[in-house]
Amino acid sequence: MKGMLGVAFYAASNAGKILKDNFGKSLEIDFKGDINLVTDIDRLSEKTIVEIIMDKYPDHQILAEESEGKRSESPYRWIIDPLDGTTNYAHGFPFFCVSIALEKDREIILGIIYDPLLEEFFVAEKGKGAYLNKKKIEVSSTDNLIHSLLATGFPYDLRESEENNIDHFNNFIMSAQAVRRAGSAALDLCYVAMGRFDGFWELKLSPWDVAAGSLIVKEAGGIVTDFKGGDFDIYSKEILASNKKIHNEMVQVLKKGMS
Ligand code: IPD
Ligand code: CA
Ligand code: CA
Repeated sequence: MKGMLGVAFYAASNAGKILKDNFGKSLEIDFKGDINLVTDIDRLSEKTIVEIIMDKYPDHQILAEESEGKRSESPYRWIIDPLDGTTNYAHGFPFFCVSIALEKDREIILGIIYDPLLEEFFVAEKGKGAYLNKKKIEVSSTDNLIHSLLATGFPYDLRESEENNIDHFNNFIMSAQAVRRAGSAALDLCYVAMGRFDGFWELKLSPWDVAAGSLIVKEAGGIVTDFKGGDFDIYSKEILASNKKIHNEMVQVLKKGMS
């Protein structure tokens, strides 16, 4: 792989190795809130990714979860989640990944998500399809909600805010085949892209949770919108991703929770 994709791949591989090598070992844990934590491995992974990117593209912008990042006049901005699924990681639950996206003039042009335990690399470039370990992937063909396996997650402020997704969760478990809350939004999106899940919704996510995954879903033939089926923006607080076929049914269920 060459150019920016090659750099993203190299950074994700190196960061993934750090996550894998330290998985199950003792961690230094700091709390960003009551239940929102960060470990020394999140920080080491992020430092590794940022150094690799800055070495090649020193003028590019960086937006990363655990540091201040970097602003510049460059149209390119790298959006990085060095460890998506930190709670899982800290508990030894094997569902987490590295997520790296590249935005150019506010459009995501490249996304790479790496699960180092399963050695699964999900890659998409705008207009070029989505791939899992170099094999083209497509969303599922499930065409109704009652036969769909869905995924979601809950925001860290769920105890303080009424907008905590519990209403939507209740509505979806009554209308889909089943709903999973596995703890990594980036991997949830990859699973929609390759058909393990049929749909995914969540609120109050950050750009680094969804930037790479949303492109991967779209390039795999899926659709990503807000809860009403309108345009999706990685900087907004709603994401609804699906295989297209069940999208309208999902919008109808989300409507019930919003009324
Ligand atoms: C979290 C995960 C989780 C989602 C949270 C995210 P983190 O990211 O993606 O699935 O429900 O809202 O913040 O904190 O593990 O990088
Ligand atoms: Ca995250
Ligand atoms: Ca993270």
